[in-house]
Amino acid sequence: MASITLKNVTKIYRSTEKERGGLFRNKKVSEKKRDVIAVKDFSMEIEDKEFVVLLGPSGCGKSTTLRMIAGLEEIDGGELYIDDVLVNDMESKDRDVAMVFQNYALYPHMSVFDNMAFAIRKRISDKKEVERKVREAAEILGITEYLNRKPRELSGGQRQRVAIGRAIVRNPKVMLMDEPLSNLDAKLRNQMRSELLKLRKRIDATFVYVTHDQTEAMTLGDRVVVMKDGEVMQIGKPDEIYSNPASVFVATFIGNPQMNIFPISAYRKGEGYSINLFGKELALGMEYSSVLSKRKESFIPLKLGIRPEYITLDKENGLFSGEVSIAEHTGNSVIVHMNVNGNEVVALEEERNRREVDYAPDSILNFSFSLSDVYLFDAESGRNILYGVDNE
Ligand SMILES: Nc1ncnc2c1ncn2[C@@H]1O[C@H](COP(=O)(O)OP(=O)(O)O)[C@@H](O)[C@H]1O
Ligand SMILES: [Mg+2]
Repeated sequence: MASITLKNVTKIYRSTEKERGGLFRNKKVSEKKRDVIAVKDFSMEIEDKEFVVLLGPSGCGKSTTLRMIAGLEEIDGGELYIDDVLVNDMESKDRDVAMVFQNYALYPHMSVFDNMAFAIRKRISDKKEVERKVREAAEILGITEYLNRKPRELSGGQRQRVAIGRAIVRNPKVMLMDEPLSNLDAKLRNQMRSELLKLRKRIDATFVYVTHDQTEAMTLGDRVVVMKDGEVMQIGKPDEIYSNPASVFVATFIGNPQMNIFPISAYRKGEGYSINLFGKELALGMEYSSVLSKRKESFIPLKLGIRPEYITLDKENGLFSGEVSIAEHTGNSVIVHMNVNGNEVVALEEERNRREVDYAPDSILNFSFSLSDVYLFDAESGRNILYGVDNE
């Protein structure tokens, strides 16, 4: 059993007094040397055996959050519980957590067997028992035949398996992984991703997994935490994050190619609200109108979002038309970039659905999308205006 509860967990990397003194004398306080709020008010309840993925761009505080759970980084504010026990001041070794890093950090002079056994030899004196545990972990990871080799005699993928093996021999309550696949090439990464899915079914641990790769996050996570600048932007199941993003940031961070975003404004028209997009007036549905009616402005500045996969291309018919600037053929689909009144519109079409459409540069294409597939965000805050609103 291991649930993990974070309540307003905060981490500030402080610049040292010496650095600060020097900086003030020079009257130049550079961004880097100031206190950095690496994680701010992180709150979440992670269930026993859940697989939670922390996702976000480089520098958003993922590793810091993981290291606080591991006990490798002091917590500056808030509370961290593992199984209802406050662990803010508990040493790492007493937390029953194991961590796997991006750079495998194996001992080069030790065999694979010893690398894995090293983690438990101190605790388990019975040699047979140590061997049994190492062999069991090696079996799970398919590295039994390499147990006598040295790390340098292994491929990147095999080394990463050893690093994971070293973590699982300890049979930890909590398994923490910090970008464990990012040193692997694309093919191996895909393979290891599906192996991780199998692995988590075989071992009894709660997983917190850090990545900047949305595909890893969406395929591995029971829930995904999207972070930005040290703050949690959204927590949800992968399909919720994709279909109901809380903000422009989440909407454009998840999904490939990324969601199209166009600045627009909404205005009262008849019973409800309308918008003007690329010279066409479109009436918004009731749920939007009821949210917008609470606003006082006569022109409400918004951002309209539509995912490329929800745009339909056609030669003859369509609500809008655009001029093809470039088409990227990826094999099973084509990503078409169009120019529409100076705006770039990106559409994704699956090859097997392809109509008689010419994607040659400069050709004119018609396209449409359904207003029900559109997202509206507040222009200033970036919030999805329907997020968290009950629409029965
Ligand atoms: N030891 C440190 N000292 C000072 N600042 C740090 C330290 N570690 C990380 N930071 C800063 O904290 C922020 C979050 O870093 P990190 O948690 O490593 O992000 P991520 O893992 O999402 O890339 C960044 O701005 C980073 O520069
Ligand atoms: Mg990191």
